[in-house]
Amino acid sequence: MGIVGNLSPDQLQFFNSQGYLVIESFASKDEIDAMMKRMQQLLDDFDPSSTASIFSTKNQQQSTDDYFYESVEKVSYFFEEKAFGDDGNLKQPKQLSINKVGHALHEIEPAFKKFSFSEKFSSLMYSLGYKRPAILQSMYIFKQPGIGGEVVPHQDSSFLYTEPETCTGLWLALEDANIINGCLWAIPGSHKNGLVRRFVRDEDGVKFDRPSPSYDRKDFVPIDVKAGSLVVIHGDLIHQSFENQSPKSRHAYSLHVVDTDGCKWAPENWIRRKVEPEPLYVS
Ligand code: FE2
Repeated sequence: MGIVGNLSPDQLQFFNSQGYLVIESFASKDEIDAMMKRMQQLLDDFDPSSTASIFSTKNQQQSTDDYFYESVEKVSYFFEEKAFGDDGNLKQPKQLSINKVGHALHEIEPAFKKFSFSEKFSSLMYSLGYKRPAILQSMYIFKQPGIGGEVVPHQDSSFLYTEPETCTGLWLALEDANIINGCLWAIPGSHKNGLVRRFVRDEDGVKFDRPSPSYDRKDFVPIDVKAGSLVVIHGDLIHQSFENQSPKSRHAYSLHVVDTDGCKWAPENWIRRKVEPEPLYVS
């Protein structure tokens, strides 16, 4: 018997036409609790003076340091741009200053590993036609109240480019995500227009190979989801999120998967692993 994926024909049809798909109740409450609790512990133990690296898709210069590159195989902490005062000190507690933690939670932290390598992800990827899917990066995204910055319109394949393109984003809402607290927004069907630019790494650092086209805000639709919902994102889908304007957090856990069979990892990608990623298997 062959491998049976878990997407229905209707779900596949929606994904292929729209470039994204919402799967409600993908994660159980226990899985969400385990990941959120572990992240709370990690943040409590984190010494913010150990790093002052700030990640922002707007500010490429600061994402060029070794801390960023080395995070590929570590659990690393990236601050919000607005976390620091003029004196260089954090303006609020460290727990409310972090933009994201990445990029190897799925390999290092058991609660995240258990969820990320669960059969529901592997069967999802096989049902999308992957032959040997592997997770290239994981991120715990905080979208902090008040300072949780916007993520400008982009395509995930810009950052994780393979030939042919195989990147898929998997975005799990750990808390309800809506238009007030910074849910995802996407241009339905935009994946059909192909990749517009790449994010490349060379000896000078990382940069986009061309400027971003401008997008019309009215073309985007909000992807308002409940905690536990998974948003599957085609690598060429134009998507973004706005600032969190609510007084509460909006945590999410995201994974990016590529096929490691029949496609070539681009050497210019920012991710350069020393060890091959372990594929997702179904039993
Ligand atoms: Fe994205």
